[in-house]
Amino acid sequence: MNAQYPDLAGKQVIITGGANGIGESMVRLFSEQGAVIHFCDIDAEKGAALEAELENCRFTEVDLEQPDQIASWIGAIETIDLLINNAAKDPRIPLQDLTVEAWDSLVALNLRAQMLTVRESSSKFRRPASVINFSSITFHLAPAEMAAYVATKGGILAMSRALARELGPSGVRVNTISPGWIMTERQLREFVDEGTKAMIRERQCQPELLEPEEIAQIALFLASSASGALTGQEILADRGWYFS
Ligand SMILES: NC(=O)c1ccc[n+]([C@@H]2O[C@H](COP(=O)([O-])OP(=O)(O)OC[C@H]3O[C@@H](n4cnc5c(N)ncnc54)[C@H](O)[C@@H]3O)[C@@H](O)[C@H]2O)c1
Repeated sequence: MNAQYPDLAGKQVIITGGANGIGESMVRLFSEQGAVIHFCDIDAEKGAALEAELENCRFTEVDLEQPDQIASWIGAIETIDLLINNAAKDPRIPLQDLTVEAWDSLVALNLRAQMLTVRESSSKFRRPASVINFSSITFHLAPAEMAAYVATKGGILAMSRALARELGPSGVRVNTISPGWIMTERQLREFVDEGTKAMIRERQCQPELLEPEEIAQIALFLASSASGALTGQEILADRGWYFS
């Protein structure tokens, strides 16, 4: 059963990468709360289907690697109570194969877009407002062949703390969610086999695999005034992963 936060009803919520995975779960759960959701994605088919299925959801096809597309999407939204920077990609690239193009593309989506959406939203925030950025447990684990991804996720943590300072006095909270390993459709399709599941169960304090809805629940809490004491924080939602 999902918690209800009455203060989220009618809130204007922006979600990037809302067509699949954790983003889709957040679109669904914020819709259940009675919020008005503006979400974007490059997956136009899934985005349009979700918009048609749910109440008060507006989908726009946006490539977040393109600053002008971010500006025109957010420019068309009048007021914003909550901005969730969720979209990212996480390719495995050995260092010797890491081209300038691949690096720039990862930084453009995973890090630069998160700064641009905040910048474009800042004049539209209806205070008290909130920003939720997505980092990752992978920043803390720092595995091989993910240097660029790890760098962007570390950058998000650093940027979020600085933005919390800059925007805090004017009534905007900025927090970061760092999910553990989440059983999204794509992770299950591309990376998670039975052996990986066993390893995850071993590593977590509790064996239950993490579902996207559980991360969306944390986003609801961080969006609500129930978490008003939290800003500049990282919430590591990983079911207690053992790092050693
Ligand atoms: N799933 C996990 O295990 C996990 C773990 C830690 C952190 N995270 C983080 O959580 C967030 C969501 O991850 P997810 O697993 O749900 O991802 P996902 O790949 O399932 O969904 C990402 C969405 O972003 C969209 N997207 C990709 N490139 C885009 C672009 N250029 N412009 C607009 N939209 C674009 C995709 O189409 C997709 O709908 C990411 O920031 C990710 O780094 C996920």
